[in-house]
This record gives sequence, C-alpha cells and structure tokens, in this order.
Amino acid sequence: MNLEELQIKIKTIKEQLKNESIVDSELLQTKYLGKKGSFNDLAKAIGQIDPEQKKEAGKLLNELKIHLTETIEKLEKSPKKASFEDLTAPGVKPKVGHMHPVSQAMEEITQIFERIGFSRARYPEVDWDWYVFESLNMPKSHPARDEWETFFVEAPVDPEKGKVVLTTHTSNGQVREMERLKSKPPIRMINIARCYRRQQDATHTQMFHQFEGLVVDTGINIQHLKGTLDYFAEQFYGPGTKSRIRPFHFQFTEPSFEVDFSCHICNGTGKINEEKCKFCKSGWHEVGGAGMVHPNVLKAGGIDPEKYTGFAFGWGVERTYTLKQGLNIDDIRLLYSGDLRFLEQF
Ligand code: DAH
Repeated sequence: MNLEELQIKIKTIKEQLKNESIVDSELLQTKYLGKKGSFNDLAKAIGQIDPEQKKEAGKLLNELKIHLTETIEKLEKSPKKASFEDLTAPGVKPKVGHMHPVSQAMEEITQIFERIGFSRARYPEVDWDWYVFESLNMPKSHPARDEWETFFVEAPVDPEKGKVVLTTHTSNGQVREMERLKSKPPIRMINIARCYRRQQDATHTQMFHQFEGLVVDTGINIQHLKGTLDYFAEQFYGPGTKSRIRPFHFQFTEPSFEVDFSCHICNGTGKINEEKCKFCKSGWHEVGGAGMVHPNVLKAGGIDPEKYTGFAFGWGVERTYTLKQGLNIDDIRLLYSGDLRFLEQF
C-alpha cells in the first residue's frame, strides 16, 4: 500500500462514518476504534508502506484517529440521538392548561341552575336599545338609564328598536327569551354573557360577565325567588350560606330587591374574635339585584301579566366568583391580565 491508497481508505472511512445509520456511540466506538475496528485494520496495514512514507502515513493515521474520536463524541450529543426512543425511560409530563377561572365559574353557575330546570341561553352582546332599556320599562330619556354607563355603537338607528349599544347588563335577554318562546311560559332561563360599561377600577372592568335568571309561569311569587337564591347560595358558596333580599328600585321589577349572601369567613356575624370581619365588615356581601318581573316587561314580551307572573335576578360573574372561599382576589383586573403566574393558581 502506498500513501495515495492510504489516503483513499481514510477518505472512505470518514465518508462511512458521516453517513452512519447507527446512533449509539458505544457501537460506533467498537466499529471504528475497537480492537477489530476500521482504524486498527488500517493501522496494521501500515507495515506494508515504504519506509520513507511511514512518517507521513503515521501522521495521517493520527489525524484519522482524532477525527473518529471527535466525530463519535459529537454524534453522541447531536439531536440524532433524540430519535432513538428509550421506551423504558420515565416520561416527561406535558404542561396542561385549564379553563380560565371566569369560564370555570360560568360552567359551575350553569350547572347549578340546570339542576333545577333552568336552561342556558345566549343573547347578543351588541344589541338594540329596545332590548337593553326600552322593553325593560325604561323609556328614552328616563333617568334610570343613567345607572348604566353605556357605550353606544355608531350604527344605523332602527326605527322601532332604536340605537345599537354594547349590552350593559344581561337583562336584555329577558324580552328576547319571551320572544323566542313565542310568549308562551313556562320560562326558566339563565343567560350568561359579556357586559360593557364605562368603568375601570380595582372592582370594575369595562368588560365583565353577568348572569341573569328569569322565571315566568302561573302563580310565581317572591317565595320562589327567595328559595332559588337560597339554593344558589348553598350550592355555590357551600352549606349554611344564606341569602338576604333588601328593598330597592329597578325599573324592570316590582317589587325590586338587592341581594346579599352571608359571609363565609365570619358565618354572617360580621365579627371574628370580637373584631370586625375584614372581608365583609357587616356579615353580608351584596352581589346583585332581583325582583318580580314588572307587568310592562311581560307586556313587552307579549305575555299577559294578568295571567302570568315571574321573577328575575342578575349579577356579575366575576364579583360572585371572587367572593368564594379562599380566593381573596382584591383586584378584579387581575382576572383579565393574562398573567400566567396568576392564572396558573386556579
Ligand atoms: N340588570 C341589573 C344590573 O345590571 C341587575 C338586575 C336587577 C337584574 C334586578 C334583574 C333584576 O333581573 O330583576 O344592575
């Protein structure tokens, strides 16, 4: 063998290693650098080389050895190795996401009401003035409208239904539900949707969610409303939670009430070890409004108020949810910050 032939053989070995399909470095080590490996075979053949060329041949062989060692080491660390599946290796647990806490709350609220025969409804979140205000006994220019800091949409005004607004409350679903059922009770609706108001601070966001209950049938009275509120309080906040209704005014209910739930931290007493409960201050949390559906609202939905009566209630999903035991979310804006450090806690 002369130098030229040696060089060709070296090249062939390098090529072979480059296109190697084996990815296990130990096997490669044996194949190329082992006792009976390609390198040793070649080294043995050096004896046949001309004495003057031996020095040069030794140099080439040395280089080959370094090349083989380094390449095999590199292969061990290369991504090719990853394609070799070790089926016995312990698995890597993938990160699993979950529903947003507000979606979880909506799901829970829906289920609680479905258990007593309510059905979930969805109505537009951009709606006509008629459904948001006028059909709810709030004629144009009525001062009660000031309560709802409304976003108006620049859209053509409908001659009958008026302007287009972003829904300020889910009560727009009331007359829509009556229409959907062709003004034929019984109605047992729970409408959960986004609402919008011009407001922004630690306890208010411009977009939030409300849920609205509406029941219309013959012989419906305040006891049915109170029973439903008590049922929800126990189901959502836990056994022993009570509801309380206080006289209030809404245009779309008569009589109207504000709804409170007893505080689960102090059990509705307002005190913890003789000190004022910091969470509620009074033993109760105000959550929303309720009342007996106003006859004018029933009429707007084509229902005879002489024959049917109903109750309705509505309040914020976020507010209701953040009062849950152990949550202690004091800034509602965190819910929509998209901050995973916050969201991952739920
Ligand atoms: N829509 C009211 C609000 O956004 C809440 C409300 C009060 C809903 C009384 C009702 C109700 O259905 O009967 O403040």
